[in-house]
Amino acid sequence: MSKKFYVTTPIYYVNDVPHIGHAYTTIAADVLARFYRLRGYDVFFLTGLDEHGQKVQQAAAKAGIDPQTHCDRLMPKFKDLWTKLNISQDAFIRTTDPQHQSIVQRGLQTLYDKGLIYQADYTGWYCTFDERFWTEKDVEQGLCPDCRRPVEQVSERNYFFRMSQFQNRLKEHIHTHPEFIQPDSRRNEVLGFLQKPLEDLSISRPKSRLSWGIELPFDQTCVTYVWFDALVNYFSALEYLSSESHATQFWPASVHLVGKDILTTHAVYWSTMLMGMERPLPQSIFAHGWWTVEGEKMSKSRGNVIDPYAIVEEFGTDAFRYFLLREVPFGQDGDFSRTAFHSRYQAELANDLGNLVSRTLAMLGNFSKNMVPSADSETETELDHTLQQTATTLFTTIEAHLQRYEFHRALETIMGLVQMANQYIDKTAPWVLAKDPTKAPRLQTVLFHLTETLRFLAHALTPFMPHTAETMKTRLGLTKDISNPSLSNDPTWGEYAYPHPVTKGTALFPKKDMPSADTSQPGSSSNVSLNTEKKTNNIQRHTAYRDRRFPESRTENRKDS
Ligand code: MSP
Repeated sequence: MSKKFYVTTPIYYVNDVPHIGHAYTTIAADVLARFYRLRGYDVFFLTGLDEHGQKVQQAAAKAGIDPQTHCDRLMPKFKDLWTKLNISQDAFIRTTDPQHQSIVQRGLQTLYDKGLIYQADYTGWYCTFDERFWTEKDVEQGLCPDCRRPVEQVSERNYFFRMSQFQNRLKEHIHTHPEFIQPDSRRNEVLGFLQKPLEDLSISRPKSRLSWGIELPFDQTCVTYVWFDALVNYFSALEYLSSESHATQFWPASVHLVGKDILTTHAVYWSTMLMGMERPLPQSIFAHGWWTVEGEKMSKSRGNVIDPYAIVEEFGTDAFRYFLLREVPFGQDGDFSRTAFHSRYQAELANDLGNLVSRTLAMLGNFSKNMVPSADSETETELDHTLQQTATTLFTTIEAHLQRYEFHRALETIMGLVQMANQYIDKTAPWVLAKDPTKAPRLQTVLFHLTETLRFLAHALTPFMPHTAETMKTRLGLTKDISNPSLSNDPTWGEYAYPHPVTKGTALFPKKDMPSADTSQPGSSSNVSLNTEKKTNNIQRHTAYRDRRFPESRTENRKDS
């Protein structure tokens, strides 16, 4: 039986256009999905939209349209961005899909029939923004302890899920499954949260207050709490957005990737819901950090929301994918600064990777009529062996990093080989060898080693920078032999004969001047303006540097704890 890998992103609220935070998780999930597909796993990669709840209802009201029309209008903005970012999702779920709604109702009915849902009066402090109640002791000066917005006192008759019943079982599960909540710091955080008695969870909203939601199957006057609807997507999608057998094959999920602000809802609400429904828990929930922008919290009111479209327009999709995963360890907070983006682009993509590809292809053109020669084993040296050894262990090293969600280390390893290959060129100096006809066999060996290294790099880069990897393969003439198994499986050194000429092509990453202009797009709410940049330029350099070294020093931004 083939190995399975099921990865999910959070489903995003459709209260506004997508931003860098949405792009971040989706790109990370895409890298994992592509990696495990290359590894021969049967992969299911799910993303989608969270379309119910107060936030969406309010956004629609603000736009003067009904919520469904609002969702239908915003949905393409997410789907188009995923196309632009080369996201390879297997399914895109919307919580307004009728099939999802009936699966949520089925789950609610199951819990109700088992006596795990009951009705009670409740008075509490409600934060509309976070869509949750707080107790008297949580509220500070009338403000939500999380988002600092005013809360209102609400008394209502609600339905409650007996979440408290599962507290010990959940603690036990976390202790016995160290991979369940990652990274470790987040696991400790959840265990800390579980030290206090776990309360039951209010899972309904009266329609009189919120009409935009899934009706409770046992009470037509209420809709279900948006999280009780949203979390079920991870299971419901398998039932109707994939072939029937996938439902049982893919559950439990291999990993739910989430932002740190929605860890509690996943680790506690979702886990206890699954226990109540007698389903296995996901293997892992990984909570990543948050991006600030030029050292500041990203927010609409600050006008510093990063629009992924604008960055991609300027630097290309692969540079954006690269930067997000290379700049910051996945579990930590990080800063998106134009200086940092530009310097990585210039140094690592244009100078290191881009140069290696163009130098190698140019030398194949100049010294070998665009044909890849065979190596002459008589002329091989220690330098060649080291290069070969590093290239052939690359994919296994990347796998080890990705198993720990260390995207930055995987990319660092790839770039290590790129640097080694550039040094190999400098040390072997093929242009000197080319001047001496007696050195022709050595020149062949060097060119062969360089080309093989590019072939291994193209393979390793495929999950991270799919377009760049494809271009490299095309230039090496590999895509002409798509039926060759070595092009889809892990390559073996020396197995490929390179029967086709290589082509030089244009620069993979054209050099850029330090960006200084507005990155906003017409009609977009997102921009990092010239003014902001001028004002903060010096601070940025410091902040970007400090954050890279001490990313854990950033402040927390919890939404659900
Ligand atoms: N709809 C819920 C998720 C339900 S999942 C069953 C939701 N949606 S959201 O659109 O508000 O947020 C989606 C994700 O974006 C969260 O994982 C959140 O952490 C992430 N981000 C929002 N701003 C972010 C940054 N500034 N940086 C990184 N990620 C951030 O919550």
